Amino acid sequence: MAPIKVLFVCLGNICRSPLAEGIFDRLIAEKGLSGTICTDSAGTAAYHIGANPDPRSVSVAKVHGIRLNHRGRQFSESDFRNFDYILAMDRYNFQDIEMLYTKKDRASLYLMRAFDPEGRGEDVPDPYYGGDQGFEEVYRMLVRSSEELLQTICEEKIGKF
Ligand code: 4NP
Repeated sequence: MAPIKVLFVCLGNICRSPLAEGIFDRLIAEKGLSGTICTDSAGTAAYHIGANPDPRSVSVAKVHGIRLNHRGRQFSESDFRNFDYILAMDRYNFQDIEMLYTKKDRASLYLMRAFDPEGRGEDVPDPYYGGDQGFEEVYRMLVRSSEELLQTICEEKIGKF
């Protein structure tokens, strides 16, 4: 079976989406699904192509035992053909990429917090201009959302959890 492909999208691809990717990778590994589901992340903007994740995302990930390993890249229309699930961090990211979506595309597009039982459908707020506490809050939202997202993917594509 071809791997199920999941893409996380934010604005800059240095704060939220690389953190989401790292959290989801850990969860996949914990469930023994590392070869079954694969992940990536991208930004709607081109500001940080090739850049390492923001040091504050690296730091909050490290505190929780996750090592981030990603270089910034910009979202491309072809991602809709190459991924099964695309998760936008906020409504602006969602709207920006939704405009590029065609009915023939393979991916299902969701807001990340459509899967957060403690704030369903809300944005993962952009922590870039704020302090460290914002990154910890983003981390918690992403952990909650990732758990339900993985459960949904397993039910839809694998038939077990
Ligand atoms: P991200 O955060 O979308 O979560 O990666 C941002 C990173 C950089 C900028 C804005 C948001 N920026 O304006 O450079």
